[in-house]
This record gives sequence, structure tokens and C-alpha cells, in this order.
Amino acid sequence: MPELEALKQEAALRAVTLVRSGMRVGLGTGSTAKYAIEAIGERLASGDLRGVVGVATSDASEALARRVGIPVEPLDPRPLDLAIDGADEIDPQLNLIKGLGGALLREKLTEVQARELVIIADHTKLVTRLGEKAPLPVEIARFGFLSTIERLRQLVPGGRLRQPGAQPYVTDNGNYIYDAQLPERFDAAGLERQLKGTLGVVETGFFLGMAQRAFVAAPEGVRELRCP
Ligand code: A5P
Repeated sequence: MPELEALKQEAALRAVTLVRSGMRVGLGTGSTAKYAIEAIGERLASGDLRGVVGVATSDASEALARRVGIPVEPLDPRPLDLAIDGADEIDPQLNLIKGLGGALLREKLTEVQARELVIIADHTKLVTRLGEKAPLPVEIARFGFLSTIERLRQLVPGGRLRQPGAQPYVTDNGNYIYDAQLPERFDAAGLERQLKGTLGVVETGFFLGMAQRAFVAAPEGVRELRCP
């Protein structure tokens, strides 16, 4: 296994030790969350855990959870005991950018209901300010998307519609994603409010004040970070 993959798996395994029998757990999306879902499945299969139910943040995670034997329920208004997910950037306050995998809307809908959101990542995801390495994914309605992008460019001039091939990328919710290049200085909470107030915007990849804990794996070991 390549080194970065091994680190992602180490972080995921640490988070999965927090899962207890009977919990309802938010299952994240992405290459790191995948290891957590597999590990929960293994603990259920071995009898170490019983009665765990997953709430998946994407069609892909739901399919993986079912494959590894985790019963999956849709999101309902009850709180989740725990949610475990990856992130694209993690700042020192555990504010996050998420959504490079395209699942930001379901991730936010699910994780806002978790009693604890635990982030798992390798050390390359740590940043001193959001936007340092990754763009900010903004999920937008398909209808009138060019007009929405014009409105977004008034707020964040740099950015582009996510288009990996001939067609734009389509989320599990049937929307498009605009990847916005954040400026060097900005007020994240203020920008989040402005983006959310922009016609055509469905959700942003800012996860501000949502994560309580992160397990971040580096070659020298896994660090547990707590929201300061
Ligand atoms: C999915 O939309 C994202 O929010 C992922 O959680 C994030 O992109 C991290 O993914 P990786 O673990 O694959 O880096």
C-alpha cells in the first residue's frame, strides 16, 4: 500500500475505535472515509460491534457500507451518535473545506446532526488558512448555472465549473459544482453567509465549527487534534 494510503487507513482505524455497539453513525465519503467504513464492517463481522446503523453521505458510501455488512438508514431528524469523515483542508481551529469528492451537501446535512464529527486525514490536509491548497467547492443548481457562476464571480473572482471530461460533474443530488479559488485574506463566516445568500447556490464546502476532533496521520504517528 502506498505511504499516503497507509496513513489514511491509520487515521481511520483510530476514529473507528470510538464506535460503540448500538450507535447510529454518519458515514463519510472519499478515499479516507472508505477505510473507516471497511473497518466498521470488519468490527461488525467479527462480533466486536453489534447493532450499529450507518447513515451514508453519498451513494458510493452507501453501496460500500452495504457491501461490508453495515445496515444503512436514510437521514431522519434524530441525532447521530458520531460521524466520521475525511476533509480536503483542516485549519488550526478544525474548520474545514470539504467537497472535492462532490458529496458536500449530504455530508453537511448528515454531519450537522452528529453529536460528534470526527475528521480523519493524512498530514497533507493540514493548512494554516482555508483555501491554501484546495478550492472551495460550491454546489449550484444546474438550471441557470452560468448566471449563478457570474454571481459567484462577483464574490470570489477566481474559479471554474467542475468538468472532469466533456460534461460537467454532476453530484448525487443532480447539481453542478463550482470550485472557487479563495483569496489570501477573507472572513470565512462572512463569505459563507454571502455565498449561501447567492441565488442558485445550494451549499458550500465550508464546514465551520462543525468538527470537534481530528485524527491526522503522519509518518511519525497519528495526532489527535481537538477543537481549541
Ligand atoms: C467528499 O465530498 C469530500 O468532502 C471528502 O470528505 C474529502 O474530499 C476528503 O476526501 P479524501 O479522503 O479522498 O481526500
